[in-house]
Amino acid sequence: MRSGGLVAFPTETVYGLGAAVDRPEALQRIFTVKGRPADNPLIVHIASMDQLYQVAVAVPGSALRLAERFWPGPLSLVLPRAPEVPALVSAGLSTVAVRMPDHPAAMALIEAAGVPVAAPSANLSGRPSPTTARHVLEDLAGKIEAVLDGGPCVVGVESTVLDMTGPEPVILRPGGVSREDLAATLGFAPCVARPVAGQAPLSPGMKYRHYSPRGRLILITGPPNRRRHLARRLLRYYLSRGVPAAHINPARCGPAGEEIAENPMVLARRLYAELRRCDLAGIRVILAEEIPACGIGAAVMNRLRKAAARVVRVGGQASRVPVIGLNTVRV
Ligand code: TXA
Ligand code: MG
Repeated sequence: MRSGGLVAFPTETVYGLGAAVDRPEALQRIFTVKGRPADNPLIVHIASMDQLYQVAVAVPGSALRLAERFWPGPLSLVLPRAPEVPALVSAGLSTVAVRMPDHPAAMALIEAAGVPVAAPSANLSGRPSPTTARHVLEDLAGKIEAVLDGGPCVVGVESTVLDMTGPEPVILRPGGVSREDLAATLGFAPCVARPVAGQAPLSPGMKYRHYSPRGRLILITGPPNRRRHLARRLLRYYLSRGVPAAHINPARCGPAGEEIAENPMVLARRLYAELRRCDLAGIRVILAEEIPACGIGAAVMNRLRKAAARVVRVGGQASRVPVIGLNTVRV
Protein backbone atom coordinates (compact mmCIF):
# COMPACT_ATOMS: atom_id res chain seq x y z
CA MET A 1 0.00 0.00 0.00
CA ARG A 2 2.90 2.34 0.70
CA SER A 3 4.03 1.90 -2.89
CA GLY A 4 0.56 2.49 -4.30
CA GLY A 5 -0.84 -1.06 -4.20
CA LEU A 6 -4.47 -1.98 -3.53
CA VAL A 7 -5.15 -4.37 -0.65
CA ALA A 8 -8.60 -5.79 0.11
CA PHE A 9 -9.23 -6.35 3.80
CA PRO A 10 -11.96 -7.60 6.13
CA THR A 11 -14.03 -5.28 8.29
CA GLU A 12 -16.98 -6.10 10.53
CA THR A 13 -19.37 -4.94 7.75
CA VAL A 14 -18.04 -6.05 4.35
CA TYR A 15 -14.58 -6.38 2.75
CA GLY A 16 -13.01 -3.06 1.70
CA LEU A 17 -10.59 -2.30 -1.14
CA GLY A 18 -7.92 -0.17 0.47
CA ALA A 19 -5.49 2.45 -0.81
CA ALA A 20 -3.27 4.71 1.28
CA VAL A 21 -5.06 8.05 1.43
CA ASP A 22 -1.90 9.93 0.39
CA ARG A 23 -1.40 7.96 -2.88
CA PRO A 24 -3.55 9.68 -5.52
CA GLU A 25 -2.56 7.18 -8.23
CA ALA A 26 -3.78 4.32 -6.01
CA LEU A 27 -7.03 6.19 -5.27
CA GLN A 28 -7.54 6.60 -9.00
CA ARG A 29 -6.94 2.87 -9.51
CA ILE A 30 -9.72 2.03 -7.05
CA PHE A 31 -12.21 3.69 -9.38
CA THR A 32 -10.72 1.92 -12.39
CA VAL A 33 -10.63 -1.63 -11.03
CA LYS A 34 -14.13 -1.41 -9.55
CA GLY A 35 -15.62 0.32 -12.59
CA ARG A 36 -16.86 2.89 -10.08
CA PRO A 37 -18.47 6.11 -11.31
CA ALA A 38 -16.03 9.01 -10.75
CA ASP A 39 -18.63 10.97 -8.74
CA ASN A 40 -19.06 8.35 -6.00
CA PRO A 41 -16.81 9.21 -3.01
CA LEU A 42 -14.84 6.73 -0.85
CA ILE A 43 -14.95 6.17 2.92
CA VAL A 44 -11.70 6.89 4.81
CA HIS A 45 -10.84 4.30 7.45
CA ILE A 46 -8.89 5.38 10.53
CA ALA A 47 -7.27 3.53 13.42
CA SER A 48 -7.06 6.37 15.98
CA MET A 49 -8.79 9.60 16.93
CA ASP A 50 -5.61 11.49 15.91
CA GLN A 51 -6.21 10.30 12.37
CA LEU A 52 -9.74 11.76 12.49
CA TYR A 53 -8.21 15.23 12.72
CA GLN A 54 -5.84 14.45 9.83
CA VAL A 55 -8.77 13.91 7.48
CA ALA A 56 -11.61 16.10 8.84
CA VAL A 57 -11.93 19.64 10.21
CA ALA A 58 -14.56 21.44 12.30
CA VAL A 59 -15.73 18.17 13.89
CA PRO A 60 -18.92 18.99 15.86
CA GLY A 61 -19.41 17.78 19.43
CA SER A 62 -22.31 15.55 18.36
CA ALA A 63 -19.97 13.72 15.95
CA LEU A 64 -17.47 13.18 18.77
CA ARG A 65 -20.19 11.74 21.00
CA LEU A 66 -21.25 9.36 18.23
CA ALA A 67 -17.64 8.37 17.57
CA GLU A 68 -17.10 7.69 21.24
CA ARG A 69 -20.20 5.52 21.41
CA PHE A 70 -19.97 3.63 18.09
CA TRP A 71 -16.28 3.50 17.08
CA PRO A 72 -14.76 1.18 16.29
CA GLY A 73 -17.94 0.15 14.49
CA PRO A 74 -20.23 0.35 11.46
CA LEU A 75 -20.87 4.12 11.44
CA SER A 76 -19.39 6.48 8.80
CA LEU A 77 -19.56 10.18 9.66
CA VAL A 78 -19.60 12.74 6.85
CA LEU A 79 -17.57 15.78 7.96
CA PRO A 80 -15.84 18.76 6.35
CA ARG A 81 -12.75 17.46 4.50
CA ALA A 82 -9.28 18.53 5.64
CA PRO A 83 -7.37 20.31 2.84
CA GLU A 84 -4.56 17.69 2.93
CA VAL A 85 -6.94 14.91 1.86
CA PRO A 86 -6.90 14.52 -1.93
CA ALA A 87 -10.19 15.67 -3.51
CA LEU A 88 -10.23 12.36 -5.40
CA VAL A 89 -11.19 10.57 -2.17
CA SER A 90 -14.41 12.57 -1.96
CA ALA A 91 -15.02 12.67 -5.71
CA GLY A 92 -14.55 16.42 -5.50
CA LEU A 93 -16.97 17.06 -2.59
CA SER A 94 -15.83 19.38 0.21
CA THR A 95 -16.75 16.67 2.75
CA VAL A 96 -15.27 13.29 3.69
CA ALA A 97 -16.85 10.13 5.14
CA VAL A 98 -14.79 8.65 8.00
CA ARG A 99 -15.05 5.51 10.09
CA MET A 100 -13.00 3.35 12.45
CA PRO A 101 -13.62 -0.31 11.55
CA ASP A 102 -14.18 -2.90 14.27
CA HIS A 103 -11.84 -5.58 12.97
CA PRO A 104 -8.30 -6.39 14.15
CA ALA A 105 -6.98 -7.06 10.62
CA ALA A 106 -8.38 -3.74 9.33
CA MET A 107 -6.89 -1.85 12.27
CA ALA A 108 -3.50 -3.58 11.85
CA LEU A 109 -3.48 -2.75 8.13
CA ILE A 110 -4.22 0.94 8.73
CA GLU A 111 -1.52 1.06 11.38
CA ALA A 112 0.98 -0.63 9.06
CA ALA A 113 0.09 1.75 6.22
CA GLY A 114 0.91 4.60 8.61
CA VAL A 115 -1.87 6.74 7.13
CA PRO A 116 -5.67 6.51 6.91
CA VAL A 117 -6.93 4.06 4.29
CA ALA A 118 -9.56 5.02 1.71
CA ALA A 119 -11.73 2.00 0.91
CA PRO A 120 -14.99 1.34 -0.87
CA SER A 121 -16.51 -2.13 -0.69
CA ALA A 122 -14.23 -4.58 -2.56
CA ASN A 123 -16.72 -5.60 -5.27
CA LEU A 124 -17.15 -4.65 -8.91
CA SER A 125 -19.45 -1.64 -9.03
CA GLY A 126 -23.09 -2.77 -8.98
CA ARG A 127 -22.38 -6.29 -7.65
CA PRO A 128 -23.35 -7.43 -4.14
CA SER A 129 -20.71 -6.38 -1.58
CA PRO A 130 -18.19 -9.09 -0.59
CA THR A 131 -18.45 -10.66 2.85
CA THR A 132 -15.66 -13.23 2.35
CA ALA A 133 -12.20 -13.12 0.75
CA ARG A 134 -13.51 -15.52 -1.91
CA HIS A 135 -16.19 -12.99 -2.92
CA VAL A 136 -13.44 -10.39 -3.37
CA LEU A 137 -11.51 -12.72 -5.67
CA GLU A 138 -14.66 -13.54 -7.67
CA ASP A 139 -14.78 -9.87 -8.69
CA LEU A 140 -11.20 -8.60 -8.50
CA ALA A 141 -8.70 -11.48 -8.88
CA GLY A 142 -5.74 -10.35 -10.99
CA LYS A 143 -6.65 -6.68 -10.62
CA ILE A 144 -5.45 -6.00 -7.07
CA GLU A 145 -2.25 -6.76 -5.14
CA ALA A 146 -3.68 -8.76 -2.22
CA VAL A 147 -6.64 -9.69 -0.08
CA LEU A 148 -6.34 -10.33 3.66
CA ASP A 149 -8.57 -13.27 4.54
CA GLY A 150 -10.29 -12.68 7.88
CA GLY A 151 -13.16 -15.11 7.33
CA PRO A 152 -16.80 -14.05 6.94
CA CYS A 153 -17.85 -10.55 8.05
CA VAL A 154 -20.05 -10.54 11.14
CA VAL A 155 -22.37 -7.61 10.33
CA GLY A 156 -22.74 -8.39 6.63
CA VAL A 157 -24.20 -5.05 5.42
CA GLU A 158 -22.27 -1.81 5.02
CA SER A 159 -21.87 0.96 7.58
CA THR A 160 -24.53 3.57 8.27
CA VAL A 161 -23.53 6.83 6.51
CA LEU A 162 -24.52 9.82 8.63
CA ASP A 163 -24.12 13.36 7.30
CA MET A 164 -22.90 15.62 10.12
CA THR A 165 -22.36 18.75 8.01
CA GLY A 166 -25.90 20.21 8.16
CA PRO A 167 -27.95 21.70 11.00
CA GLU A 168 -29.16 18.18 11.94
CA PRO A 169 -27.57 14.78 11.30
CA VAL A 170 -29.11 12.97 8.30
CA ILE A 171 -28.86 9.24 7.52
CA LEU A 172 -27.65 8.99 3.92
CA ARG A 173 -27.45 5.20 3.96
CA PRO A 174 -28.97 2.89 6.61
CA GLY A 175 -26.45 0.32 7.79
CA GLY A 176 -24.88 -1.55 10.68
CA VAL A 177 -25.75 1.08 13.33
CA SER A 178 -29.54 1.43 13.47
CA ARG A 179 -31.52 4.68 13.58
CA GLU A 180 -32.80 3.58 17.01
CA ASP A 181 -29.21 3.24 18.28
CA LEU A 182 -28.31 6.68 16.91
CA ALA A 183 -31.39 8.16 18.58
CA ALA A 184 -30.30 6.80 21.96
CA THR A 185 -27.04 8.78 21.72
CA LEU A 186 -28.32 11.90 19.91
CA GLY A 187 -31.49 12.25 22.00
CA PHE A 188 -33.63 12.28 18.83
CA ALA A 189 -34.05 10.06 15.78
CA PRO A 190 -32.15 11.48 12.80
CA CYS A 191 -33.98 11.95 9.47
CA VAL A 192 -33.36 9.50 6.66
CA ALA A 193 -32.47 11.11 3.31
CA ARG A 194 -34.88 10.27 0.51
CA PRO A 195 -33.96 10.95 -3.07
CA VAL A 196 -35.87 13.98 -4.37
CA ALA A 197 -36.54 13.95 -8.11
CA GLY A 198 -34.65 16.70 -9.90
CA GLN A 199 -32.39 17.38 -6.92
CA ALA A 200 -28.76 16.28 -6.55
CA PRO A 201 -28.58 13.33 -4.12
CA LEU A 202 -26.84 14.09 -0.82
CA SER A 203 -24.90 10.85 -1.05
CA PRO A 204 -23.82 10.24 -4.63
CA GLY A 205 -23.82 6.48 -4.10
CA MET A 206 -27.59 6.52 -3.49
CA LYS A 207 -28.47 7.15 -7.10
CA TYR A 208 -26.85 4.02 -8.49
CA ARG A 209 -28.60 0.67 -8.68
CA HIS A 210 -26.59 -1.37 -6.23
CA TYR A 211 -26.17 -4.80 -4.84
CA SER A 212 -27.62 -6.45 -7.90
CA PRO A 213 -27.40 -10.18 -8.41
CA ARG A 214 -27.55 -11.47 -12.00
CA GLY A 215 -30.92 -13.15 -11.45
CA ARG A 216 -34.12 -11.09 -11.18
CA LEU A 217 -34.90 -10.43 -7.55
CA ILE A 218 -38.60 -10.25 -6.70
CA LEU A 219 -39.23 -8.63 -3.33
CA ILE A 220 -42.53 -9.68 -1.77
CA THR A 221 -44.10 -7.37 0.80
CA GLY A 222 -47.29 -7.64 2.85
CA PRO A 223 -48.59 -9.65 5.82
CA PRO A 224 -46.24 -12.55 6.77
CA ASN A 225 -48.58 -15.45 5.97
CA ARG A 226 -49.61 -13.97 2.61
CA ARG A 227 -46.10 -13.20 1.47
CA ARG A 228 -44.82 -16.58 2.52
CA HIS A 229 -47.69 -18.22 0.65
CA LEU A 230 -46.94 -16.23 -2.51
CA ALA A 231 -43.19 -16.86 -2.29
CA ARG A 232 -43.82 -20.60 -2.08
CA ARG A 233 -46.32 -20.53 -4.91
CA LEU A 234 -43.98 -18.60 -7.15
CA LEU A 235 -41.09 -20.88 -6.29
CA ARG A 236 -43.12 -23.94 -7.30
CA TYR A 237 -44.34 -22.16 -10.41
CA TYR A 238 -40.87 -21.31 -11.66
CA LEU A 239 -39.30 -24.64 -10.76
CA SER A 240 -42.14 -26.58 -12.42
CA ARG A 241 -41.42 -24.67 -15.64
CA GLY A 242 -37.70 -25.31 -15.53
CA VAL A 243 -36.72 -21.77 -14.46
CA PRO A 244 -33.97 -21.96 -11.80
CA ALA A 245 -35.42 -20.11 -8.81
CA ALA A 246 -34.58 -19.72 -5.11
CA HIS A 247 -36.33 -18.37 -2.05
CA ILE A 248 -33.56 -16.71 -0.04
CA ASN A 249 -35.28 -15.89 3.26
CA PRO A 250 -38.25 -18.20 3.75
CA ALA A 251 -40.21 -17.37 6.89
CA ARG A 252 -40.01 -20.18 9.43
CA CYS A 253 -43.08 -21.70 11.03
CA GLY A 254 -43.53 -23.13 14.50
CA PRO A 255 -45.34 -26.40 15.29
CA ALA A 256 -48.76 -24.68 15.16
CA GLY A 257 -47.96 -23.03 11.84
CA GLU A 258 -47.17 -19.69 13.49
CA GLU A 259 -44.45 -17.52 12.02
CA ILE A 260 -41.15 -17.44 13.90
CA ALA A 261 -39.41 -14.11 13.35
CA GLU A 262 -35.97 -14.65 11.85
CA ASN A 263 -33.19 -12.83 13.61
CA PRO A 264 -32.57 -9.77 11.37
CA MET A 265 -28.88 -9.82 12.33
CA VAL A 266 -28.56 -13.30 10.87
CA LEU A 267 -30.40 -12.24 7.70
CA ALA A 268 -28.07 -9.21 7.36
CA ARG A 269 -24.99 -11.38 7.80
CA ARG A 270 -26.10 -13.82 5.12
CA LEU A 271 -27.72 -11.48 2.59
CA TYR A 272 -24.87 -10.79 0.16
CA ALA A 273 -23.49 -14.33 0.35
CA GLU A 274 -26.97 -15.66 -0.55
CA LEU A 275 -27.22 -13.33 -3.56
CA ARG A 276 -23.77 -14.39 -4.77
CA ARG A 277 -24.59 -18.06 -4.18
CA CYS A 278 -27.68 -17.67 -6.36
CA ASP A 279 -25.53 -16.16 -9.13
CA LEU A 280 -23.02 -19.01 -9.01
CA ALA A 281 -25.85 -21.55 -9.12
CA GLY A 282 -27.35 -19.88 -12.23
CA ILE A 283 -30.54 -18.87 -10.41
CA ARG A 284 -32.67 -16.66 -12.68
CA VAL A 285 -35.40 -15.70 -10.21
CA ILE A 286 -34.65 -14.85 -6.57
CA LEU A 287 -37.65 -14.57 -4.24
CA ALA A 288 -37.10 -12.45 -1.14
CA GLU A 289 -39.63 -11.69 1.58
CA GLU A 290 -39.87 -8.34 3.30
CA ILE A 291 -38.61 -8.22 6.89
CA PRO A 292 -39.56 -5.60 9.52
CA ALA A 293 -37.61 -2.41 8.75
CA CYS A 294 -36.47 -1.77 12.32
CA GLY A 295 -32.99 -2.12 13.77
CA ILE A 296 -30.63 -3.59 11.19
CA GLY A 297 -33.75 -4.71 9.28
CA ALA A 298 -33.88 -1.16 7.82
CA ALA A 299 -30.50 -1.73 6.15
CA VAL A 300 -31.54 -5.17 4.87
CA MET A 301 -34.75 -3.74 3.36
CA ASN A 302 -32.81 -0.83 1.80
CA ARG A 303 -30.47 -3.31 0.06
CA LEU A 304 -33.32 -5.63 -1.00
CA ARG A 305 -35.23 -2.72 -2.54
CA LYS A 306 -32.16 -1.61 -4.44
CA ALA A 307 -31.45 -5.13 -5.66
CA ALA A 308 -35.09 -5.79 -6.63
CA ALA A 309 -36.13 -5.88 -10.25
CA ARG A 310 -39.72 -5.91 -9.01
CA VAL A 311 -41.54 -5.32 -5.71
CA VAL A 312 -44.81 -7.21 -5.30
CA ARG A 313 -47.22 -6.20 -2.57
CA VAL A 314 -49.69 -8.85 -1.42
CA GLY A 315 -52.71 -8.18 0.70
CA GLY A 316 -53.88 -5.17 -1.26
CA GLN A 317 -55.45 -5.35 -4.68
CA ALA A 318 -54.67 -8.28 -6.90
CA SER A 319 -51.52 -7.74 -8.90
CA ARG A 320 -49.80 -9.59 -11.68
CA VAL A 321 -46.27 -10.87 -11.40
CA PRO A 322 -44.40 -10.95 -14.68
CA VAL A 323 -42.62 -14.20 -15.26
CA ILE A 324 -39.54 -13.96 -17.41
CA GLY A 325 -40.17 -15.36 -20.85
CA LEU A 326 -43.41 -16.97 -19.67
CA ASN A 327 -46.95 -15.94 -18.79
CA THR A 328 -47.91 -13.79 -15.85
CA VAL A 329 -49.17 -15.26 -12.59
CA ARG A 330 -52.23 -13.80 -10.94
CA VAL A 331 -51.74 -13.41 -7.18
O1 TXA B 1 -19.14 -0.62 5.73
C1 TXA B 1 -18.73 0.14 4.86
O2 TXA B 1 -19.05 1.33 4.81
C2 TXA B 1 -17.79 -0.43 3.80
C3 TXA B 1 -16.50 -0.89 4.49
C4 TXA B 1 -15.44 -1.33 3.53
O3 TXA B 1 -16.06 0.12 5.35
N1 TXA B 1 -17.52 0.52 2.78
C5 TXA B 1 -18.44 0.88 1.85
O4 TXA B 1 -17.98 1.79 0.93
O5 TXA B 1 -19.56 0.44 1.83
P1 TXA B 1 -18.76 2.11 -0.43
O6 TXA B 1 -17.81 2.94 -1.19
O7 TXA B 1 -19.25 0.89 -1.05
O8 TXA B 1 -19.94 3.04 0.03
C6 TXA B 1 -19.70 4.35 0.50
C7 TXA B 1 -20.98 5.13 0.55
C8 TXA B 1 -21.45 5.53 -0.84
O9 TXA B 1 -22.88 5.47 -0.88
C9 TXA B 1 -20.96 6.96 -0.95
O10 TXA B 1 -21.72 7.74 -1.86
C10 TXA B 1 -21.09 7.44 0.48
O11 TXA B 1 -20.72 6.34 1.27
N2 TXA B 1 -20.15 8.54 0.76
C11 TXA B 1 -18.80 8.47 0.86
N3 TXA B 1 -18.28 9.68 1.07
C12 TXA B 1 -19.31 10.55 1.13
C13 TXA B 1 -19.43 11.96 1.34
N4 TXA B 1 -18.35 12.73 1.51
N5 TXA B 1 -20.67 12.51 1.32
C14 TXA B 1 -21.77 11.74 1.14
N6 TXA B 1 -21.72 10.39 0.95
C15 TXA B 1 -20.52 9.81 0.94
MG1 MG C 1 -20.16 -0.38 -2.20
